[in-house]
Amino acid sequence: MKKLVLTGAAGRLGGVLREPLSRLCDELVTTDILDAPDSLFANERYVQADLGDLPAMISLLEGADMVVHFGAIGDEAPFETLLKPNFIGAYNIWEAAYQNKVRRVVYASSIHAVGMHKKTDFIGIDAPHRPDTFYGLAKCFAEDLASLYWDKRGVEAVCMRILSCAQVTNSRAVGSWLSYDDLIHLVEQAITTPITGFSIVYGVSNNDRAPVDNAAASHLGYRPKDNAEPFAKEIYAKDGPLDPLDPGNSCHGGPFAIVELGQSGVSLLNLDPEDT
Ligand SMILES: NC(=O)c1ccc[n+]([C@@H]2O[C@H](COP(=O)([O-])OP(=O)(O)OC[C@H]3O[C@@H](n4cnc5c(N)ncnc54)[C@H](O)[C@@H]3O)[C@@H](O)[C@H]2O)c1
Repeated sequence: MKKLVLTGAAGRLGGVLREPLSRLCDELVTTDILDAPDSLFANERYVQADLGDLPAMISLLEGADMVVHFGAIGDEAPFETLLKPNFIGAYNIWEAAYQNKVRRVVYASSIHAVGMHKKTDFIGIDAPHRPDTFYGLAKCFAEDLASLYWDKRGVEAVCMRILSCAQVTNSRAVGSWLSYDDLIHLVEQAITTPITGFSIVYGVSNNDRAPVDNAAASHLGYRPKDNAEPFAKEIYAKDGPLDPLDPGNSCHGGPFAIVELGQSGVSLLNLDPEDT
């Protein structure tokens, strides 16, 4: 591959992906609204840009084979705050991809697009959208945009509904954990699978208690290896009995299922500040 673009490159997951992606292409163009990382890989070029700026996105994607779109506000926030980066930013990426004849958008979607479904329903990739927040609504919007641009404009997309890519610190994460190694494998599969059309896949490790079904995404060859089960006993003991009637426990969205619209869900996740 000649040119690959990664958005959200200054973020936590972007930082994990830069090195492995740099090995898949002649030139890796990384971008974020923040300053450039301290050091760049040999074939990496960094462009500071706002996802809300369509002309900037069109110029960024010029000559690109694919774009890996991870840039966004990664938490629930007021609709007006999310509108530019998460909604308009997604439109700008798909429109810039179309105008530049970019083959595929590999997109960091989220479980929060379907966060109000019950975990006991063991949903597949065909579960209807059921967002838990404005943040989840933006992921629904981007997934529908991906479907539209595939059907009407032939831009392929892999929408990876990541469950939780952070360390296992709570009972929910025993099922929802996506390790960094499995994230890298997932993104590599989304890029290297010859034909994807419009695909959805859950970003979750090989957890014994994974609450979602990826059977219909088998064509991507995503075979995660890590498993959160060794953490289960200690975490369940620490958390104590959970109220089964609390949507924060029973729904896929976890704390996002109970926060007020516009209020942070991440702040309820009990994450180590170094890993958020
Ligand atoms: N971390 C998870 O567990 C998880 C779960 C589901 C989905 N996701 C998605 O994965 C992606 C990356 O998540 P993360 O945890 O690395 O989040 P992050 O906040 O660390 O990274 C997101 C990056 O996007 C950038 N960004 C925000 N607004 C921008 C704008 N207007 N223009 C350009 N860049 C902008 C931020 O500066 C940041 O560096 C996000 O789209 C998030 O919604 C993450």
